[in-house]
Order: sequence, then structure tokens, then C-alpha cells
Amino acid sequence: MLKVYHTTDADRRVLNDLSVGIIGYGSQGRAQALNLRDSGIISTIGLPTHSRSRRNAHRDGFAATTVRLLVKRCNILCFLAPDHLHGSVFHKDVRDWLRPGQSLVFSHAASVHFGTVRPPDFVDTILIAPLGPGKRLRELYGKRPGVACFFAVHHDATGRAHRVGLALAQAIGCLQTGAIETTFAEEAVGDLFGEQAVLCGGLSRLLKLGFDTLVDHGLSPEKAYLECVYQIDLIVDLVKAHGIAGMLDRISPTAGYGAVTGGPRVLADRLRRNFETLYHEIESGRFFARLTRRPSGEGIDRSQLTSPQFENAARRVRQLLENSDT
Ligand SMILES: NC(=O)c1ccc[n+]([C@@H]2O[C@H](COP(=O)([O-])OP(=O)(O)OC[C@H]3O[C@@H](n4cnc5c(N)ncnc54)[C@H](OP(=O)(O)O)[C@@H]3O)[C@@H](O)[C@H]2O)c1
Repeated sequence: MLKVYHTTDADRRVLNDLSVGIIGYGSQGRAQALNLRDSGIISTIGLPTHSRSRRNAHRDGFAATTVRLLVKRCNILCFLAPDHLHGSVFHKDVRDWLRPGQSLVFSHAASVHFGTVRPPDFVDTILIAPLGPGKRLRELYGKRPGVACFFAVHHDATGRAHRVGLALAQAIGCLQTGAIETTFAEEAVGDLFGEQAVLCGGLSRLLKLGFDTLVDHGLSPEKAYLECVYQIDLIVDLVKAHGIAGMLDRISPTAGYGAVTGGPRVLADRLRRNFETLYHEIESGRFFARLTRRPSGEGIDRSQLTSPQFENAARRVRQLLENSDT
């Protein structure tokens, strides 16, 4: 049975007199810092002196300092630098300045689970992993439904880690919808698998291959995009609201018959075996080791997931139907 925490489970008073430091000011760092401020909690931002994000933090009215000074000054430290850099940030600027009573808070468990960050026993180690991008977390702050989160306490050194974690989860806007209890191990592996196999990797590849097939058979890229991609949010909305069976009940009989006869042939048993391979790479730590060893600044080859033709079609359909180029 899932354990889910809501607003009534959090007591904001536990944060009284505790200072919050945010390491990193990107997608999650910015959203969480702004939401905390709207909840009455002022945080300080920790960034390298050369960081491009300093300008954004200053523009939003935050003080930025170095990570080392942040660790010296703050009781709660939210790790919102990129996951592959957590290890180097921790070893260079955090570990030697930690003291008893502090709490380390992560928004993804991978660096702790796979051991690039090993917090000492005298600090709390907490996970608050929003189930959505930072932009969405910010947009939905104070709204219902907002963005939910996964929540875990890996180590409770202070005796208040649970209360501190829930109060922070509430302040960044996640408890109105709910904080779902998990473990660092589950979140680290589950999140990486979900985004690679289904949400980001698998879905992009599926959309692109469907699009390419129709284009190769003579449809214009715009029509292929409209057929294979444009309605994806409507189908996903149906699945979220009613399940797969409920979605099948709500589409046309032709689409439903085609789905149950065509779907299993498209995504055959081989896909399940590929998922197993992916899962074992992630679960064993091999994927995370590869990620952290990549030379910094090395680009990512996106050509297997998208193409200029696909991106142009997406842009043209947006312009045609939504009169926007955003
Ligand atoms: N993005 C999401 O939607 C999302 C959702 C859930 C959880 N998370 C988790 O949130 C964490 C942050 O991800 P993100 O997507 O917000 O990353 P991001 O957008 O890439 O932002 C990373 C921030 O860290 C800064 N940074 C880089 N090197 C640093 C260093 N050595 N010390 C301190 N700060 C440094 C970057 O500054 P520069 O401008 O200098 O590069 C940038 O401000 C990750 O653990 C991620 O898994 C993200």
C-alpha cells in the first residue's frame, strides 16, 4: 500500500531558525527557490563563481555565494546541481565543511544510491523528488492539482529528518497533491528506467519511427506529424484519467481494434528483452558510471531520436494550428 503525505502531515514550524541553501539554480533550483520564497522561506543560492546561472539568481532577487560558503552557513542543503556533477561538488566543496545537525536534500536519488555522494552519518539524507519539470512545479505552485513528489528519508541523524523533509516538500508546493513515500534505491532505478525506456527515450523513438514510416510512404511531414504525434497528449490524458482499458473504450471502434491487433506486433517481445537489458544496466550502476564519466561539455548525439525534418514539421504544425512559434 502506498503511503502518501499531504499538507496536514507537515509542520512548517520545524523550519523556524533553519537556513536553506540551494546548490544550483537551473530548472529545479530556480523553481524550488521561488516556491520556498512564496512560502515565506528565504534561501541562498550556491554556485561556482563563473556560473551562468548567477545572473538568473540575482535577477530573481536571490543572494548567490559559493557552495563552500553555503555549506558553512546553511542548515539545509538542497542538491540541485546536475546529477553527474553531484560527486565532484560533494568532494570538492561540501564534504569537509559539513557539521552535525545539517540536512542534505536531493531531488533525484541516483548520486547517493550509486555512491558518487556518500553523506556522513552525522547529517540527514532526504529525498524530495518532484514528479515534473521545474517549470511545471513553479507554474502549479499553490494550485490544485499541483506537482506531486517522491519522498524518502535515507538517514535520520537529527531525529527530525522526516519532519524537515515534509515541511520542505510542502513549502515547494508538493503536498497539496501528495508526497509518495519511497526509498532512495527505488527512486534512483525507477526514475532512470522510466525516463529512458518510456517517457523520454522510448516515446521519442516511437514517435519518430512512426513519423518516418509515413513520410517514407509519401505523406507530407506535417501530415505524418499530425497522424503520429499531434494527439499524443489527448491519448495520454485518457490513459491517466481512465487507464488503458478506459482509453480503449473511449476511442473509435476502428482505433480500438487496430490498437489491440497492431500494438503487440509493433512492440513485440523483443522490446521486453531490451527493457530487461536497459534495467540491468541501470540497476547495476553501469549507466550512472557512464553518465558521470562523460567528459564535461561533450554533446549528446540526438540523431537516433529526432531529425531536422521532424522538428520542422512540429514547428510548422504549431504555427499553422496554434499560430505560435514558441
Ligand atoms: N529538471 C527537472 O525537471 C527535474 C525533475 C526532478 C528532479 N530533478 C533533479 O533536480 C536536480 C537538478 O536538475 P536540473 O534539471 O534542475 O539541472 P539544470 O537545469 O541543469 O541546473 C543545474 C544547475 O546547477 C548549476 N551547477 C553546475 N555546476 C555546478 C557546481 N559545480 N556547483 C553548483 N552548481 C552547479 C548550473 O549552473 P550553470 O549555469 O553554471 O550550468 C545550474 O544552475 C537533479 O538532481 C535532477 O535529477 C530535475
